[in-house]
Amino acid sequence: MMDAAHGSEALAVVLAAGQGTRMRSAKPKVLHEVAGRSMLGHVLSSVSESAIGRVAVVVGPDQESVSAEARRLSPAASMHVQAERLGTAHAVLCARQAIEAGAAVVVVLYADTPLVRPETIKGLADAVRAGAAVAALGFQAADPTGYGRFLVENGALVAIREHKDATESERRITLCNAGLMALDGSRALAILDRIGDANAQREFYLTDAVEIARAMGLPTVAVTATEEEVMGVDDRLKLSRAEAIMQRRLREAAMRGGATLIDPQSVHLSHDTVLGRDVTIEPNVFFGPGVTVADGAVIHASSHIEGAAIGEGAHVGPFARLRPGAKLGEGSKVGNFCEIKAANIGAGAKVNHLSYIGDADVGAESNIGAGTITCNYDGFFKYRTSIGAGAFIGSNSSLVAPVKIASGAYIGSGSVITEDVEADSLAIARGRQVSKHGWAKRFRNEMKARKQAK
Ligand code: UD1
Ligand code: MG
Repeated sequence: MMDAAHGSEALAVVLAAGQGTRMRSAKPKVLHEVAGRSMLGHVLSSVSESAIGRVAVVVGPDQESVSAEARRLSPAASMHVQAERLGTAHAVLCARQAIEAGAAVVVVLYADTPLVRPETIKGLADAVRAGAAVAALGFQAADPTGYGRFLVENGALVAIREHKDATESERRITLCNAGLMALDGSRALAILDRIGDANAQREFYLTDAVEIARAMGLPTVAVTATEEEVMGVDDRLKLSRAEAIMQRRLREAAMRGGATLIDPQSVHLSHDTVLGRDVTIEPNVFFGPGVTVADGAVIHASSHIEGAAIGEGAHVGPFARLRPGAKLGEGSKVGNFCEIKAANIGAGAKVNHLSYIGDADVGAESNIGAGTITCNYDGFFKYRTSIGAGAFIGSNSSLVAPVKIASGAYIGSGSVITEDVEADSLAIARGRQVSKHGWAKRFRNEMKARKQAK
């Protein structure tokens, strides 16, 4: 079935099958995260950035969680199940329907190779658009053991030989197969259907596509990338190496974008962290997913931030925790040992010391005293606290939600506020102070006398 609408587009076939036993995990390998996003997510994102219009994802049997992640990130992607693990070519052919629908270029990617950049994917596809029937991605391996080797004759890629099938002299070749491959969409099935399993592993090798295309008189070409970029992740050590490489990229991009990272190595970013211009990040700051920091804001040392929007010129930390739904207005301050969750902190408002503000709206220019706690949970439901503009909450107050403190109100320190407070009023909700003149002196004298009498 040829579809004219699809014919000129590129199709990505993403191989995501396999549990990844070396990860020693209950979770499928490709769902492990790098910079707060699954490895599969990174590959799908690079695919979409390289202007590949259609995506087919090949998953293993019983990998509903992998399909769900693919659908979440690429809702239009088609899902295909590889019931039996019979090799990389067999895996690609599990997406036969998607290939049959017609594509100018078919690009094959591995979901466990999360560092591949869009430019590299584009380069492979472009090699096919420029006339190659097959373009394979290679790299110079520090240790080629285990990889397929590129056999090059007179500058042309003529075959890829799997390690287990290679001769001694072929094993000395260090130009290795990364696994990514682009095929001419109009010939992809003709080539793939000719691949057999007469090899050392009795597998259908995608790599045989090169020799088969040559035998059909079609041009094949090698495209290269760095070893770092095409690193496959199959255990937790490689996962940590991929994380380190991704962090370096993200930090460099943040600094190029105009943020100052005083000690870049100690700042952990997420794939989607957005830092404005003249943002300063002090050492030991962790960004989980979903954070934006507007221009000129300062994140002081040792803060933990996720799902938060930080306004222009705001100050956060040191030792602050911003949880999902924290929105900090322009010029606001959240200081040490404060936790903010699902709360809007108005422009210029201050929450400077030892507070928990959750499920709350804090008006502009309010001052939230040290140790203020919004009591937002009764063990069953969450309730909101509303604090108007310019309010002053005395230190060590508990605001028992649902409760509203109107603008300009004062709350006496140490209050437990359970009822709404009117604008510009003072609410005190604590035991009244009793002072007893000379009591301490009398008490001491009496006790001393008792002790001496013993
Ligand atoms: C493959 C390449 C090899 C290359 C190496 C790079 C082949 C025959 N060999 O070898 O040349 O140097 O990758 O890492 O292509 N997969 C499936 N179904 C299968 C088999 C594999 O989906 O039946 C997927 C895996 O989940 C993985 C990828 O394909 O994402 C590569 O599979 P893997 O077993 O790691 O291939 P290698 O033998 O390492
Ligand atoms: Mg492998």
